Amino acid sequence: MSLAAHVVRTREALTAQIEGVDSLSRRAVVPTMGALHSGHATLIERAREYVGDSGHVTATIFVNPTQFAANEDFDRYPRSLQADVEVCARHGADLVFAPEVGEMYPDGATQVTVDPGPLGLLYEGAVRPGHFQGVLTVVNKLFNMTQAQVAFFGEKDYQQLVLIKQMVRDLSMGVMVIGVPTVREVDGLAMSSRNRYLAVAERERAELVPNAMKVGVDVANAGGDADAVVVAVEKFFDDSGIDVDYVVVTNPDLGPAPVGGEARLIVAVRLGSVRLLDNTSIQLGARQ
Ligand code: PAF
Repeated sequence: MSLAAHVVRTREALTAQIEGVDSLSRRAVVPTMGALHSGHATLIERAREYVGDSGHVTATIFVNPTQFAANEDFDRYPRSLQADVEVCARHGADLVFAPEVGEMYPDGATQVTVDPGPLGLLYEGAVRPGHFQGVLTVVNKLFNMTQAQVAFFGEKDYQQLVLIKQMVRDLSMGVMVIGVPTVREVDGLAMSSRNRYLAVAERERAELVPNAMKVGVDVANAGGDADAVVVAVEKFFDDSGIDVDYVVVTNPDLGPAPVGGEARLIVAVRLGSVRLLDNTSIQLGARQ
């Protein structure tokens, strides 16, 4: 482990660095789009803990155009490379790979892409068509480029995490994917680079999202089934000024909700023009 993170902007320089790593060292990657916050810092710390002092941690910073639709925020997505590099170094990354778009896509968007399958069409995939194809394709490229053995992603983007695990399993990729629990602000709001889009009044109202999750947890703990949880959370948002994209309860792999046992409550809402996602584990049938 080094005290300062080395920054590389080209694939060639990345390969040279990775090839210089002792072949017995464990190699981890933390893929990000930058605008790093404490959630990302935690991912880097988990990666460092996992590989140990002799291991190697690469953080990637790349705002991937192919996962944004034409009407989305690719152009205004926050970019803060210098500050991000400092976060990476402080929390234990050895190397930062921060390529330009042309370095990742020298021939334009790839002709071959990763098809996320049926799960990629649900929830975020329904609201953002093509999004997960872009995510899985770039994550696949980043795994190949960094030659990582283990990769860390936040649970905050739960569907993304499940799909990346599915890709690794289905395509027999040699990377272990580890999900890390969501890091939250003091009022419970899940940390996200996009939270900085919220106006002051919107930010205050955004605490209703974690509050809604608590309502769902309470209903489940009181013995409510999946439908009861969804109805209670949707009702909580009525007249809140928050528009609901979807509220769902699934099993932990995003399949149908179980009658009892561990499930996932997933919420996507809009506050003005800002979309907020959250999810939490719940126990259905807790009282039975
Ligand atoms: O979660 C993100 O920041 C991005 O979707 C990822 C995984 C880095 C791919 O661009």
